[in-house]
Amino acid sequence: MCGIAGYLGFRKAYPIVINGLQRLEYRGYDSAGVVLLDGNEMSLYKTKGKVSDLKKIMKQKNIDGNLALGHTRWATHGVPNDENSHPHLSNSGKLVIVHNGIIENYDTIKKELIIRGYTFKSDTDTEVLINLIEEVKIKNKCKLGEAVQMALSNVVGAYAIAVFDISKPDEIIVAKLGSPIAIGIGENNSEFFVASDASPFIEYTRNAIYLEDEELAIIKLGKEIRVRKIQDNAIVEPDIHQLKLNLEQIEKGGYDHFMLKEIHEQPDAILDAYRGRLLASKGIIKMGSVDNNIARFLNANRIVIVACGTSWHAGLVAEYLFEDLARISVEVEYASEFRYRNPIINKNDVVIAISQSGETADTLAAIKLAKSKGAFVFGVCNVVGSSIARETDTGAYTHAGPEIGVASTKAFTTQITVLALMALKLGNLKGELSNSRYHHYIHEMSLIPGKVEEVLKMDTEIEKIAAIYKDAPNCLYLGRGFNFPVALEGALKLKEISYIHAEGYPAAEMKHGPIALIDEHMPVIVIATRKGHYDKVVSNIQEIKARHGKIIAIVTKGDTIVREMADHVIEIPETEEAFTPLLSTIPLQLLSYYIAVMRGCNVDQPRNLAKSVTVE
Ligand code: G6P
Repeated sequence: MCGIAGYLGFRKAYPIVINGLQRLEYRGYDSAGVVLLDGNEMSLYKTKGKVSDLKKIMKQKNIDGNLALGHTRWATHGVPNDENSHPHLSNSGKLVIVHNGIIENYDTIKKELIIRGYTFKSDTDTEVLINLIEEVKIKNKCKLGEAVQMALSNVVGAYAIAVFDISKPDEIIVAKLGSPIAIGIGENNSEFFVASDASPFIEYTRNAIYLEDEELAIIKLGKEIRVRKIQDNAIVEPDIHQLKLNLEQIEKGGYDHFMLKEIHEQPDAILDAYRGRLLASKGIIKMGSVDNNIARFLNANRIVIVACGTSWHAGLVAEYLFEDLARISVEVEYASEFRYRNPIINKNDVVIAISQSGETADTLAAIKLAKSKGAFVFGVCNVVGSSIARETDTGAYTHAGPEIGVASTKAFTTQITVLALMALKLGNLKGELSNSRYHHYIHEMSLIPGKVEEVLKMDTEIEKIAAIYKDAPNCLYLGRGFNFPVALEGALKLKEISYIHAEGYPAAEMKHGPIALIDEHMPVIVIATRKGHYDKVVSNIQEIKARHGKIIAIVTKGDTIVREMADHVIEIPETEEAFTPLLSTIPLQLLSYYIAVMRGCNVDQPRNLAKSVTVE
């Protein structure tokens, strides 16, 4: 994981890099560091902790220099301490590196370098890499770019790196395999920005290059960027992208946390996810990437969905959607299991990869595996231009806008929206969904943003419930049918940001174990909406009540039966069962949010987690 931010140009580099690192903290926040080059004078500062801790140290320091590289770390090799923090220096002290990724064969390389007299201050794979680059440079008497290229040909693993030589204050070398890296280009090549995504430099330039795997770029002030393939030295003509991101989207906009802002953005995000696709007035769904590959979908033996985390939960909702509305059989796989399981994939299978970041290493590897077996791979991603968006055969963006809180919220609901559109369209084309049902669903979907708006108005009520249960050590989430994945997602939200142990279960499965945990101290959150196995869920609630469990029920507006049994009810508007996850998930997000805030947890940056998991 980890975030990289760098600058080379005519401005003071420090403020750009430090602000950039703060925007990239979603990628990890175990430690932070920055190196500055002022002429040939180098200063290096790093610390365990967050970018804000680094900023405190920097208050007393000289922050001059027009070249800087910064790093925010999610520890892989070596505990999060000052020494293991990036940037790292080579033994001569002349070469500097920041790295996102893992060098898998670092131990072998390290042993060889030790034999040659190299010493190491940290436990990191990155310090090994910079010394390998130094060794290659000295041995071959070559330029830095060539040395980086040769060194990288000998490493196994994943990386996005930025390297410079303190005697060359006008040059940075950047390379990528597996982990993302963007290069922002200033007017007339008068300044350059290097970062894990474009957010650190959007106020300075709209022009950016995203390096592809196995590419190396030589960035030199005043010159065009030169890009080469690492393995065969082939020259690459880079694509210059026009960035559409704006500053407002990556700021908190008056909310206390990004997570709360993103929860409240859901009505707009869902609208953006179907804008231009759901043509309610015409009663049709238009999705270019599905339309252009319609035969693949209609002839699919089955759909295999690969994803991780919250995206995997969206995949589970999609399983219900595709099977119910389009009668296509679906398997939902954890990407990490799929990739190592020698899965059976046939040419007629359609693989759908779901990922907010578009960078999750396991999902990416699963896509490559599926492609190698001849499958057609469709991506549902949020981040435009991300690795998964580029690696898949085609796909649909969710258009949720930047999601910065580590706990995923609007990404989940927009993924479900896009997948629901696909299921409806295919269902209708396959004749499984009559025109009148299809039109009814289309109309119903167009009402969802307004209904989400209504759920968000329950904010204060949900906060009150949070205050009652904030000290619970455990929590159970139950749901059936379309709302079973919502139960899983609710439990995930709670555990990741409040550190309360929580589990999600299909409501009926409770009897096969979790019921043993129920006593008067156990809060049980039950999704008991009217459409969808209502009576069965009501029975489950009675079983919990009989064991004195505390019930927080998500019910359909106007419900009276569950209201009498539950300790608390949160009402959501009525919709089609297939769309209830878009509404029932919102109170669970808010409940987790308020509980985490009341427990004093860092909601946007929960411990040990990172938003973009670019290591397996
Ligand atoms: C991490 C994030 C989750 C996310 C998961 C998958 O665990 O903290 O919020 O759901 O990765 O990420 P993706 O970007 O592939 O959706």
